[in-house]
Amino acid sequence: MSNIIECRSLCFSYSEGGTKTLVLDNLNFEIKPGEKLAIIGQSGCGKSTLLNLIAGLDKPSEGDVLIKSSNIAMLNEKERTELRSENLGFVYQFHHLLNDFSALYNVSLPLLIKNIDKRKAIKLAEDILKKVGLENRLQHKPSQLSGGERQRVAIARAMISEPACLLADEPTGNLDADNANDILDLIIELNDNQNTALIVVTHDSTIANRMDRKLELSNKKLHEV
Ligand SMILES: Nc1ncnc2c1ncn2[C@@H]1O[C@H](COP(=O)(O)OP(=O)(O)OP(=O)(O)O)[C@@H](O)[C@H]1O
Ligand SMILES: [Mg+2]
Repeated sequence: MSNIIECRSLCFSYSEGGTKTLVLDNLNFEIKPGEKLAIIGQSGCGKSTLLNLIAGLDKPSEGDVLIKSSNIAMLNEKERTELRSENLGFVYQFHHLLNDFSALYNVSLPLLIKNIDKRKAIKLAEDILKKVGLENRLQHKPSQLSGGERQRVAIARAMISEPACLLADEPTGNLDADNANDILDLIIELNDNQNTALIVVTHDSTIANRMDRKLELSNKKLHEV
């Protein structure tokens, strides 16, 4: 089975005022269709940085990220955006919803960007918001939603394109145990029903334990745990 994502000799440094700080040092791993992977590690160890590299939102300092065998560094901006929107769904650590727009519009946006007919996009967004239990919140703006509801909107937005792989950065970080469980069930259901591969960054051992594999980032390296 071919890999959805492959990281080869991946290194990343942040540069500030002429000083380089190495955050990720020579990471090698892959994820296969339908696989569930947890990435754990202390605050500041580079987990969000790693997800940003996988999604092509940052460029590796060295090494490669391949999405379905395409090396994202070899693509131009337009091709990279396309590859991302065809294959990846991203749930950010801080949901990143558009505050001035309704839940429905936020969720339909990935399809509108792909030039899918507006009515069709809105209908699909409505269906998926129902699926995450927000059928009564379609016109609410993010500021009118609870933290858990916002996170469900963010997951709906990531799911709408039926990505091959969902990248979720602390998807339950700001939620109470009940809401966190609901979100986790939702993500696992996506994996069960659509064989969506999952890469979940989490501090929560309950979540990590429900994944197939756990990788810990420490001292700039990834280790299987
Ligand atoms: N834009 C930036 N410029 C310089 N350093 C940065 C930048 N973004 C992050 N860093 C540093 O890189 C390191 C890794 O940050 P990152 O956000 O990836 O950590 P994390 O593992 O996701 O942490 P958390 O669990 O708190 O979300 C941190 O030391 C952080 O200070
Ligand atoms: Mg982070």
